[in-house]
Amino acid sequence: MTSPARLAMAAVLAVGTSVTLAAGPVTAEVPSQPLRDHASARDFLIGTAVATGPLAGEPSYRDTLNREFNAVTAENAMKWDATEPSPGQFTFTAADQITASAQANGQTVHGHTLVWHSQTPGWVQGLDATAMRDAMGNHIGTVVGRYAGRIATWDVVNEVFDDNGGMRSSFWYQRLGESYVADAFRYARAADPSAKLCINDYNVEGINSKSTALYNLVSRLRGQGVPIDCVGIQGHLAIQYGFPNDLRQNIQRFADLGVDVRITELDVRMQLPADAGKLATQSTYYRNVIDACLAVARCTGLTVWGFTDRYSWVPDTFPGQGAALPYTENYQAKPAYQALHDALAG
Ligand code: G3I
Repeated sequence: MTSPARLAMAAVLAVGTSVTLAAGPVTAEVPSQPLRDHASARDFLIGTAVATGPLAGEPSYRDTLNREFNAVTAENAMKWDATEPSPGQFTFTAADQITASAQANGQTVHGHTLVWHSQTPGWVQGLDATAMRDAMGNHIGTVVGRYAGRIATWDVVNEVFDDNGGMRSSFWYQRLGESYVADAFRYARAADPSAKLCINDYNVEGINSKSTALYNLVSRLRGQGVPIDCVGIQGHLAIQYGFPNDLRQNIQRFADLGVDVRITELDVRMQLPADAGKLATQSTYYRNVIDACLAVARCTGLTVWGFTDRYSWVPDTFPGQGAALPYTENYQAKPAYQALHDALAG
Protein backbone atom coordinates (compact mmCIF):
# COMPACT_ATOMS: atom_id res chain seq x y z
CA MET A 1 0.00 0.00 0.00
CA THR A 2 1.76 3.14 -1.18
CA SER A 3 -0.93 5.76 -1.48
CA PRO A 4 -0.91 8.92 0.66
CA ALA A 5 -3.68 7.48 2.79
CA ARG A 6 -1.01 5.14 4.10
CA LEU A 7 0.68 8.11 5.74
CA ALA A 8 -2.31 8.49 8.03
CA MET A 9 -1.84 5.06 9.52
CA ALA A 10 -0.50 6.45 12.78
CA ALA A 11 -3.83 8.10 13.33
CA VAL A 12 -6.02 5.08 12.86
CA LEU A 13 -7.54 2.75 15.31
CA ALA A 14 -7.52 -1.00 15.48
CA VAL A 15 -10.67 -2.69 16.66
CA GLY A 16 -10.42 -3.46 20.34
CA THR A 17 -7.33 -1.32 20.89
CA SER A 18 -6.65 2.09 22.31
CA VAL A 19 -4.49 4.42 20.25
CA THR A 20 -3.29 7.96 20.79
CA LEU A 21 -3.72 10.05 17.67
CA ALA A 22 -0.47 11.46 16.35
CA ALA A 23 -1.54 15.09 16.21
CA GLY A 24 -2.91 15.47 19.70
CA PRO A 25 -3.98 14.07 23.02
CA VAL A 26 -6.96 12.25 21.58
CA THR A 27 -7.29 8.70 22.75
CA ALA A 28 -10.04 6.56 21.38
CA GLU A 29 -11.20 3.12 22.22
CA VAL A 30 -12.94 1.21 19.43
CA PRO A 31 -15.41 -1.19 20.97
CA SER A 32 -15.60 -4.65 19.54
CA GLN A 33 -19.39 -4.81 19.15
CA PRO A 34 -20.09 -4.21 15.47
CA LEU A 35 -22.10 -1.40 13.96
CA ARG A 36 -24.86 -3.68 12.79
CA ASP A 37 -25.65 -4.98 16.27
CA HIS A 38 -26.27 -1.49 17.57
CA ALA A 39 -28.16 -0.52 14.41
CA SER A 40 -30.42 -3.56 14.43
CA ALA A 41 -31.24 -2.95 18.10
CA ARG A 42 -32.73 0.38 17.10
CA ASP A 43 -34.30 -0.91 13.86
CA PHE A 44 -31.87 1.08 11.76
CA LEU A 45 -30.05 0.09 8.58
CA ILE A 46 -26.31 0.69 8.50
CA GLY A 47 -25.23 -0.11 4.96
CA THR A 48 -22.35 0.02 2.56
CA ALA A 49 -21.85 -0.04 -1.18
CA VAL A 50 -20.35 -3.34 -2.27
CA ALA A 51 -17.96 -4.01 -5.15
CA THR A 52 -18.09 -7.49 -6.66
CA GLY A 53 -14.33 -7.91 -7.20
CA PRO A 54 -13.23 -7.83 -3.55
CA LEU A 55 -16.48 -9.49 -2.46
CA ALA A 56 -15.45 -12.52 -4.48
CA GLY A 57 -11.73 -12.43 -3.87
CA GLU A 58 -10.80 -10.80 -0.61
CA PRO A 59 -11.55 -12.40 2.77
CA SER A 60 -10.73 -9.24 4.80
CA TYR A 61 -13.25 -7.32 2.70
CA ARG A 62 -15.93 -9.96 3.18
CA ASP A 63 -15.26 -10.33 6.89
CA THR A 64 -15.52 -6.63 7.59
CA LEU A 65 -18.56 -6.21 5.36
CA ASN A 66 -20.49 -9.02 6.94
CA ARG A 67 -19.44 -8.27 10.50
CA GLU A 68 -20.33 -4.57 10.45
CA PHE A 69 -23.21 -3.94 8.05
CA ASN A 70 -26.84 -5.04 7.99
CA ALA A 71 -27.57 -3.51 4.56
CA VAL A 72 -25.81 -3.43 1.18
CA THR A 73 -26.05 -1.52 -2.09
CA ALA A 74 -24.40 -2.75 -5.28
CA GLU A 75 -21.86 -0.07 -6.17
CA ASN A 76 -22.08 -0.84 -9.90
CA ALA A 77 -23.55 -4.32 -10.43
CA MET A 78 -27.21 -3.33 -10.78
CA LYS A 79 -26.73 -0.37 -13.09
CA TRP A 80 -28.09 -0.57 -16.62
CA ASP A 81 -24.72 -1.13 -18.31
CA ALA A 82 -24.16 -4.13 -16.04
CA THR A 83 -27.63 -5.66 -16.24
CA GLU A 84 -28.73 -4.97 -19.85
CA PRO A 85 -25.67 -4.16 -21.95
CA SER A 86 -27.49 -5.03 -25.20
CA PRO A 87 -31.20 -4.66 -25.97
CA GLY A 88 -33.11 -7.36 -24.13
CA GLN A 89 -29.92 -9.24 -23.17
CA PHE A 90 -29.85 -9.30 -19.39
CA THR A 91 -26.87 -10.39 -17.31
CA PHE A 92 -27.36 -10.81 -13.59
CA THR A 93 -24.20 -12.64 -12.57
CA ALA A 94 -22.72 -9.77 -10.56
CA ALA A 95 -26.05 -8.61 -9.15
CA ASP A 96 -26.90 -12.15 -8.10
CA GLN A 97 -23.51 -12.46 -6.40
CA ILE A 98 -24.37 -9.48 -4.20
CA THR A 99 -27.95 -10.52 -3.41
CA ALA A 100 -26.86 -14.07 -2.57
CA SER A 101 -24.12 -12.83 -0.26
CA ALA A 102 -26.56 -10.44 1.40
CA GLN A 103 -29.13 -13.14 1.92
CA ALA A 104 -26.54 -15.48 3.43
CA ASN A 105 -25.45 -12.75 5.82
CA GLY A 106 -28.82 -11.36 6.86
CA GLN A 107 -28.39 -8.05 5.03
CA THR A 108 -31.13 -5.94 3.50
CA VAL A 109 -30.49 -5.09 -0.17
CA HIS A 110 -30.99 -1.62 -1.58
CA GLY A 111 -31.24 -1.62 -5.38
CA HIS A 112 -29.16 0.97 -7.24
CA THR A 113 -30.18 2.19 -9.80
CA LEU A 114 -32.78 1.81 -12.56
CA VAL A 115 -32.85 5.07 -14.52
CA TRP A 116 -29.75 7.27 -14.62
CA HIS A 117 -27.97 9.39 -17.22
CA SER A 118 -24.65 7.66 -16.47
CA GLN A 119 -23.59 4.04 -16.94
CA THR A 120 -26.41 3.52 -19.43
CA PRO A 121 -25.46 1.88 -22.74
CA GLY A 122 -25.31 3.86 -25.95
CA TRP A 123 -28.10 1.82 -27.49
CA VAL A 124 -30.56 3.27 -24.97
CA GLN A 125 -29.36 6.81 -25.46
CA GLY A 126 -29.92 6.64 -29.21
CA LEU A 127 -33.57 5.53 -29.10
CA ASP A 128 -36.51 7.69 -30.14
CA ALA A 129 -39.10 8.68 -27.54
CA THR A 130 -41.45 5.74 -27.94
CA ALA A 131 -38.69 3.16 -28.06
CA MET A 132 -36.92 4.78 -25.11
CA ARG A 133 -40.03 4.66 -22.95
CA ASP A 134 -40.58 1.03 -23.93
CA ALA A 135 -36.96 0.16 -23.16
CA MET A 136 -37.27 1.80 -19.77
CA GLY A 137 -40.44 -0.13 -18.98
CA ASN A 138 -38.91 -3.40 -20.08
CA HIS A 139 -35.71 -2.79 -18.14
CA ILE A 140 -37.48 -1.84 -14.93
CA GLY A 141 -39.99 -4.66 -15.24
CA THR A 142 -37.29 -7.25 -15.81
CA VAL A 143 -34.79 -6.11 -13.17
CA VAL A 144 -37.26 -5.23 -10.42
CA GLY A 145 -39.35 -8.29 -11.25
CA ARG A 146 -36.37 -10.61 -10.95
CA TYR A 147 -35.63 -9.44 -7.42
CA ALA A 148 -39.22 -8.92 -6.29
CA GLY A 149 -39.48 -9.69 -2.59
CA ARG A 150 -35.68 -9.78 -2.26
CA ILE A 151 -34.74 -6.15 -2.81
CA ALA A 152 -36.37 -3.94 -0.20
CA THR A 153 -35.85 -0.51 -1.75
CA TRP A 154 -34.88 0.81 -5.17
CA ASP A 155 -33.30 4.00 -6.42
CA VAL A 156 -35.77 4.23 -9.27
CA VAL A 157 -34.38 7.45 -10.68
CA ASN A 158 -30.96 8.86 -9.87
CA GLU A 159 -29.65 12.42 -10.16
CA VAL A 160 -32.47 13.91 -12.25
CA PHE A 161 -31.56 17.50 -11.32
CA ASP A 162 -28.75 19.78 -12.35
CA ASP A 163 -26.93 21.70 -9.62
CA ASN A 164 -29.19 24.75 -9.93
CA GLY A 165 -32.35 22.76 -9.37
CA GLY A 166 -33.43 22.55 -13.00
CA MET A 167 -34.17 19.18 -14.57
CA ARG A 168 -30.89 17.69 -15.77
CA SER A 169 -30.72 17.89 -19.54
CA SER A 170 -30.05 14.17 -19.87
CA PHE A 171 -31.03 12.02 -22.83
CA TRP A 172 -34.01 10.90 -20.75
CA TYR A 173 -35.23 14.43 -20.27
CA GLN A 174 -34.43 15.55 -23.81
CA ARG A 175 -36.41 12.71 -25.33
CA LEU A 176 -39.23 12.20 -22.82
CA GLY A 177 -39.50 15.38 -20.77
CA GLU A 178 -40.19 15.23 -17.04
CA SER A 179 -42.77 12.47 -17.55
CA TYR A 180 -40.06 9.82 -17.52
CA VAL A 181 -39.74 10.22 -13.75
CA ALA A 182 -43.38 9.40 -13.00
CA ASP A 183 -43.37 6.60 -15.57
CA ALA A 184 -40.31 5.00 -14.00
CA PHE A 185 -41.95 4.90 -10.58
CA ARG A 186 -45.15 3.43 -11.99
CA TYR A 187 -43.25 0.70 -13.85
CA ALA A 188 -41.32 -0.14 -10.69
CA ARG A 189 -44.44 -0.32 -8.53
CA ALA A 190 -46.07 -2.67 -11.02
CA ALA A 191 -43.02 -4.95 -11.03
CA ASP A 192 -42.80 -5.26 -7.23
CA PRO A 193 -45.61 -3.72 -5.19
CA SER A 194 -43.72 -4.53 -1.97
CA ALA A 195 -40.53 -2.61 -2.76
CA LYS A 196 -40.10 0.92 -1.49
CA LEU A 197 -39.31 3.27 -4.34
CA CYS A 198 -36.82 6.12 -3.97
CA ILE A 199 -35.52 9.15 -5.78
CA ASN A 200 -31.82 9.73 -5.09
CA ASP A 201 -29.50 12.71 -5.63
CA TYR A 202 -26.31 14.47 -4.53
CA ASN A 203 -25.72 18.01 -3.27
CA VAL A 204 -29.11 17.85 -1.59
CA GLU A 205 -27.81 17.53 1.97
CA GLY A 206 -28.52 21.10 3.00
CA ILE A 207 -31.48 23.30 2.15
CA ASN A 208 -30.57 24.80 -1.22
CA SER A 209 -32.09 25.32 -4.65
CA LYS A 210 -31.41 21.72 -5.69
CA SER A 211 -32.85 20.10 -2.56
CA THR A 212 -35.82 22.43 -2.77
CA ALA A 213 -36.41 21.39 -6.39
CA LEU A 214 -36.29 17.76 -5.22
CA TYR A 215 -38.69 18.55 -2.40
CA ASN A 216 -41.10 20.27 -4.80
CA LEU A 217 -40.96 17.42 -7.32
CA VAL A 218 -41.61 14.75 -4.68
CA SER A 219 -44.47 16.79 -3.24
CA ARG A 220 -46.03 17.42 -6.66
CA LEU A 221 -45.69 13.85 -7.95
CA ARG A 222 -47.02 12.30 -4.75
CA GLY A 223 -49.95 14.69 -5.07
CA GLN A 224 -50.57 13.13 -8.49
CA GLY A 225 -50.48 9.61 -7.03
CA VAL A 226 -47.02 8.71 -8.31
CA PRO A 227 -45.65 5.97 -6.01
CA ILE A 228 -42.60 7.67 -4.47
CA ASP A 229 -41.90 6.21 -1.01
CA CYS A 230 -38.47 7.54 -0.15
CA VAL A 231 -35.83 10.13 -0.80
CA GLY A 232 -32.12 9.30 -0.94
CA ILE A 233 -29.65 11.97 0.10
CA GLN A 234 -26.32 10.73 -1.19
CA GLY A 235 -23.93 12.56 1.14
CA HIS A 236 -20.70 12.88 -0.85
CA LEU A 237 -19.04 15.41 1.44
CA ALA A 238 -15.58 16.96 1.65
CA ILE A 239 -14.04 18.49 4.77
CA GLN A 240 -12.68 21.44 2.80
CA TYR A 241 -16.18 22.56 1.81
CA GLY A 242 -17.78 22.66 5.25
CA PHE A 243 -20.64 20.75 6.78
CA PRO A 244 -24.27 21.33 5.74
CA ASN A 245 -25.56 22.32 9.15
CA ASP A 246 -29.20 22.32 8.10
CA LEU A 247 -29.06 18.62 7.16
CA ARG A 248 -31.38 17.58 9.96
CA GLN A 249 -33.88 20.30 9.09
CA ASN A 250 -33.72 19.20 5.46
CA ILE A 251 -34.30 15.54 6.33
CA GLN A 252 -37.23 16.60 8.51
CA ARG A 253 -38.96 18.54 5.74
CA PHE A 254 -38.84 15.51 3.45
CA ALA A 255 -40.09 13.27 6.25
CA ASP A 256 -42.97 15.70 6.74
CA LEU A 257 -44.01 14.99 3.14
CA GLY A 258 -44.71 11.42 4.25
CA VAL A 259 -41.70 9.73 2.70
CA ASP A 260 -38.83 7.82 4.25
CA VAL A 261 -35.39 9.35 3.97
CA ARG A 262 -32.05 7.57 3.72
CA ILE A 263 -28.48 8.73 3.57
CA THR A 264 -27.48 6.60 0.61
CA GLU A 265 -23.82 7.19 -0.36
CA LEU A 266 -21.98 8.82 2.51
CA ASP A 267 -18.28 9.50 2.20
CA VAL A 268 -16.18 12.42 3.43
CA ARG A 269 -13.12 13.11 1.36
CA MET A 270 -10.14 15.29 2.10
CA GLN A 271 -7.08 16.64 0.39
CA LEU A 272 -4.32 14.04 0.73
CA PRO A 273 -2.21 13.32 2.62
CA ALA A 274 -4.54 12.61 5.49
CA ASP A 275 -3.39 13.49 8.99
CA ALA A 276 -4.83 13.15 12.46
CA GLY A 277 -6.42 16.58 12.37
CA LYS A 278 -8.20 15.93 9.07
CA LEU A 279 -9.32 12.50 10.21
CA ALA A 280 -10.71 14.02 13.41
CA THR A 281 -12.61 16.61 11.38
CA GLN A 282 -13.85 13.86 9.10
CA SER A 283 -15.11 11.93 12.11
CA THR A 284 -17.21 14.91 13.21
CA TYR A 285 -18.80 14.96 9.75
CA TYR A 286 -19.70 11.28 10.03
CA ARG A 287 -21.06 11.87 13.51
CA ASN A 288 -23.10 14.88 12.45
CA VAL A 289 -24.63 13.01 9.51
CA ILE A 290 -25.67 9.98 11.50
CA ASP A 291 -26.93 12.13 14.37
CA ALA A 292 -29.09 14.11 11.96
CA CYS A 293 -30.53 10.92 10.54
CA LEU A 294 -31.12 9.29 13.91
CA ALA A 295 -32.92 12.42 15.09
CA VAL A 296 -35.67 12.00 12.48
CA ALA A 297 -37.88 8.94 12.89
CA ARG A 298 -38.42 8.53 9.14
CA CYS A 299 -34.69 8.51 8.41
CA THR A 300 -34.43 4.76 8.20
CA GLY A 301 -30.82 4.12 7.29
CA LEU A 302 -27.36 5.33 6.43
CA THR A 303 -25.17 3.75 3.77
CA VAL A 304 -21.50 4.54 3.26
CA TRP A 305 -20.24 4.49 -0.32
CA GLY A 306 -17.76 1.71 0.32
CA PHE A 307 -16.21 1.13 3.71
CA THR A 308 -12.47 0.84 3.05
CA ASP A 309 -10.21 3.42 1.43
CA ARG A 310 -8.79 0.50 -0.52
CA TYR A 311 -11.84 0.69 -2.80
CA SER A 312 -13.30 4.13 -3.25
CA TRP A 313 -14.40 6.07 -6.32
CA VAL A 314 -12.96 9.30 -4.86
CA PRO A 315 -9.28 9.24 -5.93
CA ASP A 316 -10.27 8.37 -9.52
CA THR A 317 -12.67 11.28 -9.73
CA PHE A 318 -10.95 13.88 -7.56
CA PRO A 319 -7.19 13.52 -8.07
CA GLY A 320 -5.29 14.31 -4.88
CA GLN A 321 -8.29 13.63 -2.65
CA GLY A 322 -9.34 10.49 -0.80
CA ALA A 323 -9.27 8.78 2.60
CA ALA A 324 -13.05 9.24 2.54
CA LEU A 325 -14.27 6.06 4.23
CA PRO A 326 -14.42 4.67 7.80
CA TYR A 327 -11.65 2.10 7.31
CA THR A 328 -8.12 2.49 6.00
CA GLU A 329 -6.82 0.59 3.01
CA ASN A 330 -5.73 -2.10 5.49
CA TYR A 331 -9.11 -2.47 7.17
CA GLN A 332 -8.14 -0.53 10.27
CA ALA A 333 -11.01 1.41 11.81
CA LYS A 334 -10.58 5.19 11.60
CA PRO A 335 -12.04 7.82 13.92
CA ALA A 336 -14.93 8.03 11.45
CA TYR A 337 -15.76 4.42 12.27
CA GLN A 338 -15.85 5.19 15.93
CA ALA A 339 -18.10 8.19 15.30
CA LEU A 340 -20.64 5.94 13.59
CA HIS A 341 -20.27 3.38 16.33
CA ASP A 342 -20.73 5.86 19.18
CA ALA A 343 -23.82 7.37 17.61
CA LEU A 344 -25.43 3.98 17.04
CA ALA A 345 -24.50 2.72 20.49
CA GLY A 346 -25.60 5.90 22.28
O1 G3I B 1 -16.00 -2.31 -15.45
C1 G3I B 1 -15.04 -1.52 -16.17
C2 G3I B 1 -13.81 -2.33 -16.52
O2 G3I B 1 -14.20 -3.35 -17.40
C3 G3I B 1 -12.78 -1.41 -17.14
O3 G3I B 1 -11.62 -2.12 -17.38
C4 G3I B 1 -12.47 -0.23 -16.23
C5 G3I B 1 -11.49 0.74 -16.84
O4 G3I B 1 -11.65 2.03 -16.33
O5 G3I B 1 -13.65 0.45 -15.95
C6 G3I B 1 -14.63 -0.35 -15.30
O6 G3I B 1 -15.78 0.41 -15.08
C7 G3I B 1 -15.70 1.39 -14.06
C8 G3I B 1 -16.78 1.08 -13.04
O7 G3I B 1 -16.84 2.11 -12.06
C9 G3I B 1 -16.58 -0.25 -12.34
O8 G3I B 1 -15.39 -0.22 -11.62
C10 G3I B 1 -15.90 2.75 -14.66
O9 G3I B 1 -14.79 3.08 -15.48
C11 G3I B 1 -16.07 3.77 -13.60
O10 G3I B 1 -16.44 5.02 -14.19
C12 G3I B 1 -17.15 3.36 -12.63
O11 G3I B 1 -17.23 4.34 -11.62
C13 G3I B 1 -18.38 4.27 -10.82
C14 G3I B 1 -19.18 5.56 -10.99
O12 G3I B 1 -20.30 5.53 -10.11
C15 G3I B 1 -19.68 5.73 -12.40
O13 G3I B 1 -20.36 6.95 -12.54
C16 G3I B 1 -17.94 4.14 -9.37
O14 G3I B 1 -17.32 2.87 -9.18
C17 G3I B 1 -19.14 4.27 -8.43
O15 G3I B 1 -18.69 4.36 -7.10
C18 G3I B 1 -19.91 5.55 -8.77
O16 G3I B 1 -21.03 5.62 -7.93
C19 G3I B 1 -21.86 6.76 -8.08
C20 G3I B 1 -23.28 6.32 -7.79
O17 G3I B 1 -23.63 5.25 -8.61
C21 G3I B 1 -24.26 7.48 -7.97
N1 G3I B 1 -23.86 8.63 -7.18
C22 G3I B 1 -22.47 9.06 -7.34
C23 G3I B 1 -21.51 7.89 -7.11
C24 G3I B 1 -20.07 8.35 -7.20
O18 G3I B 1 -19.77 8.79 -8.50
